[in-house]
Amino acid sequence: MAKILIKNIKGLVQAGENIPAVRKGSQMQELDVMEDAYLALEDSEVIGYGLMNDWEGIIDWRDVEIIDAEGCFVLPAFIDSHTHAVFAKTREEEFVDRIHGLSYEEIAAKGGGILNSARKLAALSEDELYEAAKIRVEKIIQSGTGALEIKSGYGLSREGELKMLRVIKRLKENMPISIKATFLGAHAYPVAFKENKRGYIDLLIDEMLPIIQKENLADYIDVFCERNYFSVDEMEEILKAGIAIGLKPKVHVNQFNILGGVKKAVELGAISVDHLEEIDEQDLEALKNSTSIPTLLPGCSHFLSIPYGDARRIISAGLPLALASDFNPGSSPNYHLMTILSLACVKQKMTPEEAINALTINAAAAVELSDTHGKIALGRRSPILMTKEIPSLAYLAYAFGEDHVQRIFL
Ligand code: NIG
Ligand code: FE
Repeated sequence: MAKILIKNIKGLVQAGENIPAVRKGSQMQELDVMEDAYLALEDSEVIGYGLMNDWEGIIDWRDVEIIDAEGCFVLPAFIDSHTHAVFAKTREEEFVDRIHGLSYEEIAAKGGGILNSARKLAALSEDELYEAAKIRVEKIIQSGTGALEIKSGYGLSREGELKMLRVIKRLKENMPISIKATFLGAHAYPVAFKENKRGYIDLLIDEMLPIIQKENLADYIDVFCERNYFSVDEMEEILKAGIAIGLKPKVHVNQFNILGGVKKAVELGAISVDHLEEIDEQDLEALKNSTSIPTLLPGCSHFLSIPYGDARRIISAGLPLALASDFNPGSSPNYHLMTILSLACVKQKMTPEEAINALTINAAAAVELSDTHGKIALGRRSPILMTKEIPSLAYLAYAFGEDHVQRIFL
């Protein structure tokens, strides 16, 4: 029986029995922080928490590990609701090309980008891909992430997509955090189908989805709805085929252009709509009448030097907002959600409270983990993060690039 008592916590964050599953609009500014608190865990289950003043006598165990968290904050570990953490190789050469003036779209048009990752992935075996991804997920956990979504989308062939999804399934089985799998076969048209888009959509729907269903390889279906990638109509067809086998939509929309994908994805019951670097009134209206979680990816905006999603406009519309890393080798080679927290505050003018809600409860909602993740409450077992000694909660966003994580309790 592993018993842990964390005492003298400077601030116990997002702990309570009445914290909502999602905070929207002005509620996003609300954040529960209990000062001078304790937290008691038994076999990683939360069995008590409260003010240090009320602590004496509550815990009288033997064999208890006592951790003194003087000067430290304790929070639910962050949730990364959008990643492409399974990939073959990094793409620094494209990064250097962009420094020399090429755009992300120009690089993609000459066979780089997602197609470059697909070529590299085709050359690796499932085991090689798994080993590389496993090391990455271990680092992700150490950075303070306590649940993860991972997409396919660098296979772009039957073999490649299934290889990726089987790797994600193995990670789900073997890694000590919750992982959700998303089928993103519609990430780009592969070279062989450049002139035969119908053929690729048929391949996704008729050949990949049945195997995904049979082997239970995915929770969600995603489409990159964007000019030169998949149109709104194509997205609709692919999402509907996924829905028919029990996958729920989570989509890439409005990264560069507004095509009407937000409204369509919302109509189809999208759990989240992600990117939204561009957004208009129609999109906001559609989101207001939905439960879809708008999700911004400021790491991608930073790395590609494209506009940041307009967090203030989304929050002012009374909507909830989640943040995620979009960790991938092309547009956001960063998985540190502390960096995302800082970018959200500096570049999107979110307050630290809003950004912490966006990375905890709202991110949990974006991967349907609200019942287990995103807050600290009695009986819960999800990962918990303890910071180093820091002067305030805002310091997490302020001191960007500093390593704030002292320990993660899985
Ligand atoms: O979310 N936008 C589409 N897909 C990824 C980038 C993929 C890549 O360049 O490898 C994204 O940014
Ligand atoms: Fe993405």
